[in-house]
Amino acid sequence: MKHSRSDFPPDFLFAAATSSYQIEGHGFGGAGETHWDTFAATPGNVVRAEHGRVACDHYHRMDDDLDLCRDLGLDAYRFSTSWARVLPEGRGTPNPEGLDFYDRLVDGCLERGLKPMATLYHWELPSPLADLGGWRNRDIGNWFADFTEVIMSRIGDRVFSAAPINEPWCVSWLSHFEGHHAPGLRDIRATARAMHHVLFAHGRAIEVMRGLGMSNLGAVCNFEYAFSADDSEEAREAAARYDAIYNRFFLGGLFKREYPERVLEGLAPYLPEGWQDDFDTIAAPLDWLGVNYYTCKRIAAAPGPWPHLTDVPGPLPKTQMEWEIYPEGLHHFLTMAHREYSKGLPIVVTESGMANGDRIGREDSERMAYIDAHLAQALRAIEDGVPLDGFTYWSLLDNYEWALGYKKRFGLVHVDFETQTRTPKAAYHALAKALAT
Ligand code: FCB
Repeated sequence: MKHSRSDFPPDFLFAAATSSYQIEGHGFGGAGETHWDTFAATPGNVVRAEHGRVACDHYHRMDDDLDLCRDLGLDAYRFSTSWARVLPEGRGTPNPEGLDFYDRLVDGCLERGLKPMATLYHWELPSPLADLGGWRNRDIGNWFADFTEVIMSRIGDRVFSAAPINEPWCVSWLSHFEGHHAPGLRDIRATARAMHHVLFAHGRAIEVMRGLGMSNLGAVCNFEYAFSADDSEEAREAAARYDAIYNRFFLGGLFKREYPERVLEGLAPYLPEGWQDDFDTIAAPLDWLGVNYYTCKRIAAAPGPWPHLTDVPGPLPKTQMEWEIYPEGLHHFLTMAHREYSKGLPIVVTESGMANGDRIGREDSERMAYIDAHLAQALRAIEDGVPLDGFTYWSLLDNYEWALGYKKRFGLVHVDFETQTRTPKAAYHALAKALAT
């Protein structure tokens, strides 16, 4: 790799990320059913109908996986806590085994000199709460606050940082408008409500964690660079609409106490009554912003109802996900978030990475080049004044890539899903070398 630790400021943190449902093995340890289990059990939703019951068996291999983080030379490890593992019914009686598991995980990080970066929710909603409407129901603010209280009363004294919800856009738009993720809805009213409630629940969790005396609390949003597919006025306006929905709605709520006009045009009639009154909760002060960034899209105008847009294929080299590689987008969002929204708050790249075909025992040069190119954009952002504190690779391990199953390999470490053997890839060794110098 071209870059090394010494290119970055002395306190800059290098991390790797995972999430609970994608690696733990949801069938173990008394976890309750989630909407991802039932989504995956419904034909047509997930490639090969794959699910997270065993995943990477991290539930039983946590120590080995944390050793891999330590040996890579990381400063921090970003993980998430499964709501249904802690509260199998979503509410009520906690599962002691689940609480013990996260307790051991946090201690395991600390013993290895890794800073534990916790995310409370990375997408596996307990089924009993999905039955009550899930993210469409405003009560999720209270359910989520209660979950936050239970889990953080146990680990909040030792985590380095915490964020309530991973990627509000995916939780709401991708899952309720596009239907690609659980609960698989395609309904504009459900979408509007989920988009607002996800921010409301975020705010309630921040309130609870402040009440517990925790600090270093943030929000993690995902971003996608929107090119207009051609020079027409219609395409440019469609790209701006896409940008507003994807990249500006959640930042607007969190940092400006408002939603973009371009989104309200379509969603205002479907937002819950009195939504404007929730900004005191939603915009509670934060300590940092997490930026997840992978790719760009080419947006064209399309006939039909709002948002009147579609995307078309682009010319750049693509990853195994068929996502175009556009590292400059990372610089764009770091500077845009800093200048227009977070205004001086520390920013952390909380996810960046690529899926590459099975690379066991082979070169993984595309992944190294991807990391290098994104580190270069992170450095450019620092030079341009962005208070960037860290860079997190997605993901430590090959894992359950949601609706696309186990064949999309984002890991620095290869996982054989038959035997659960872990094999560090060439990119793991290259990154270890870069971090050691
Ligand atoms: C992000 C998700 C993560 C993983 C990567 C590829 O949107 O946070 O779980 O699926 O994409």
